[in-house]
Amino acid sequence: MASEQYDFDVLVIGAGPGGYVAAIRAAQLGLKTACADSRDTLGGTCLNVGCIPSKAMLHGSELYEEAHDGTLAKWGVDTGTVKLDLGQLHATRLEAVKGLTQGIEFLFKKNKIEWLKGHASFESADTVKVGDPSTGSGRTVRAKNIVIATGSSVTQLPGIAIDQERIVDSTGALELAQVPKRMVVIGGGVIGLELGSVWRRLGAEVTVVEFLDQILPGFDGDVRKEANKILKKQGFEFRLSTKVTKAERKGDTVTLTVEPAEGGKAETLEAAVVLVSIGRKPNTEGLALDKVGIEPNKRGQIETDHQFRTAVPGIWAIGDVIPGPMLAHKAEDEGIAVAENIAGETGIVNENVIPSVVYTMPEIAGVGLTEEEAREGGEVKIGKFPMLANSRAKTNREPDGFVKVIADAKTDRVLGVWMINSVAGTMIGEAAVAMEFGATSEDIAYTCHAHPTHEEALKEAAMAVTGKPIHI
Ligand code: FAD
Ligand code: NAI
Repeated sequence: MASEQYDFDVLVIGAGPGGYVAAIRAAQLGLKTACADSRDTLGGTCLNVGCIPSKAMLHGSELYEEAHDGTLAKWGVDTGTVKLDLGQLHATRLEAVKGLTQGIEFLFKKNKIEWLKGHASFESADTVKVGDPSTGSGRTVRAKNIVIATGSSVTQLPGIAIDQERIVDSTGALELAQVPKRMVVIGGGVIGLELGSVWRRLGAEVTVVEFLDQILPGFDGDVRKEANKILKKQGFEFRLSTKVTKAERKGDTVTLTVEPAEGGKAETLEAAVVLVSIGRKPNTEGLALDKVGIEPNKRGQIETDHQFRTAVPGIWAIGDVIPGPMLAHKAEDEGIAVAENIAGETGIVNENVIPSVVYTMPEIAGVGLTEEEAREGGEVKIGKFPMLANSRAKTNREPDGFVKVIADAKTDRVLGVWMINSVAGTMIGEAAVAMEFGATSEDIAYTCHAHPTHEEALKEAAMAVTGKPIHI
C-alpha cells in the first residue's frame, strides 16, 4: 500500500527485461507498483526488437540453411527443392514477439501492476510526468521509489544516416523485405555476427568491416580467433583493422569508403544493404535528469552502488542504462535485486559471473575472466578440449569449436570458461553455476556428466586442467 503522499511505492521507468522484472518482483513483495514505457507493447528492446526477434530470424534461417545446403539430406531427410518464403519467416518472428510481449501484459495484470503508457520525465526527485512530450499531455505521478530502467539504443556512426531501407540498424536488419545480394556489416560484435549470419544463411554475401584487429572484443582471445576461422569457413568476409569513413546511397546501392584503421589508402565497397552495428548507448536523454541532479558519466551511463542506488535517495537504476555488459539476463537479475533492496531485503547480483552468448552456429559463449584477464591477475592453468573429440558433437556432425577452462594455478578455482559449440549458450549455464559456487576445475572434472552429451566436453576440459582428459 503506498502512503497517502504517494501514488505508488515503486515507479519503474522502462518495461524491458530490467524494468518489467523489477516491477513484477516489487509487486510480488507487496509494493504498489507502476511501470511506464513509451513503446506500444511491453518487453523493451529485448522482446520487441532485440533478443527475441533476432533469435526467431536465427532459428528460421538455420532451418532454411540446413534444408538448403544438404545437411538434412545427409541425415536422410529429402526436402525436394527448397524455397525461401521470407514473408512467412517474418510472420513467424512477429508471432513470437506478439506472444511474448502479451505474456508480459498478462503478468502485469496478474500482479496488479499499472502500465503507464508514454514517455516519462522527471519533474522532481519523486515526481514523474508520463505522456506525450510533443503535446505536453500526460499524467503526473509521485512515487516513493523510482527505478530508471530505460535501456539503450543504437550508436550512430557520424556521417552515416540510417534510412532503415538500405542503411539499417539492428531493427531495420530484422525486417528486410528482400534478401540483399551483398550486405556490409559495420562492426564485428554480437549484433553484426548474429544478424550477418541470418542474411548470409538466407543467401547474402556478407562482409564485416571491423575497426579492431579481431572480431568480438571482450571475448577470450582463443575464442575470437576460432570464431573468425569458423565464420570465414561459412562464407563471412572479414575486413579487420578497417574503418568506414563515408557511405553514399545512389538508388539501390550503397557505396562505402573504407580505409585502414590507422589511416592510409582508401577504397570503396558496394552493398545492397549496410548494417551499422557499432554498439549501443544508454537512454538518458529526455528523462530531465538535470531536474533531480543526476549526471551521467562520460559514457552516458547512470552510476549506482551495488544495491543499484543512484546518488539521489529514492532513485535507483538498472540494466543497459548503468555500467556493465548490455545483456538482458543481467538487466533481469538487477531488476529482481533492486526490487528486493527497495523492499528492505538484500538483493545482490554477482557481476563476476554473467554469461555472454553469441547465437551464431556454432554458438559462442563465455563466463568469468578471459585467459588474458586471468593472466594479468596471476598464474593460471588452462584446460582445453576440442568438440571433434566429443562423441555427441562428432555423431551430430558438429565438429567445430572447443571448451576451455581457466583455473587459478594455486587454488584450482575456476576463473573463467569459454566455448564454441552448437549448444554453448545452454552449456555455459553449468559453468556459471559452478563458478557461483566457487568450484575448482577438479569439482567439475569429478562431477558425473550424462553420456553422450556435449556437456562432457566441459568435464573433459576441466580434466585437461590437470593434464588428464580421457578422449584426447
Ligand atoms: P530495454 O530492453 O532497452 O528497455 C528499456 C525500455 O524503456 C524500452 O522499451 C524503451 O522504449 C523504454 N524507455 C526509454 N526511455 C524511456 C522514457 N523516458 N520513458 C518511458 N520509457 C522509456 N541481450 C541478451 O542478453 N541476449 C540476446 O540474445 C540479445 N540479443 C539482442 C539483439 C539485438 C538486435 C539487440 C539490439 C539487443 C540484444 N540484446 C540481447 C541486448 C538486450 O536487448 C538488452 O541488454 C536488454 O534489452 C536491456 O534491458 P533493459 O531493461 O535495460 O532495457
Ligand atoms: P558490440 O559492442 O558487441 O560490437 C560493436 C563492434 O563494432 C565492436 O567490435 C567494435 O570494435 C566495432 N566498431 C566500433 N566502431 C566501429 C567503427 N567505426 N567501424 C568499424 N567497427 C567499429 O555492439 P553491437 O554488436 O552493436 O551490440 C550492442 C550490444 O547489444 C552489445 O553490447 C551486446 O551486449 C548486446 N547484444 C547482445 C546479444 C547477445 O547477448 N547475444 C545479441 C545482440 C546484441
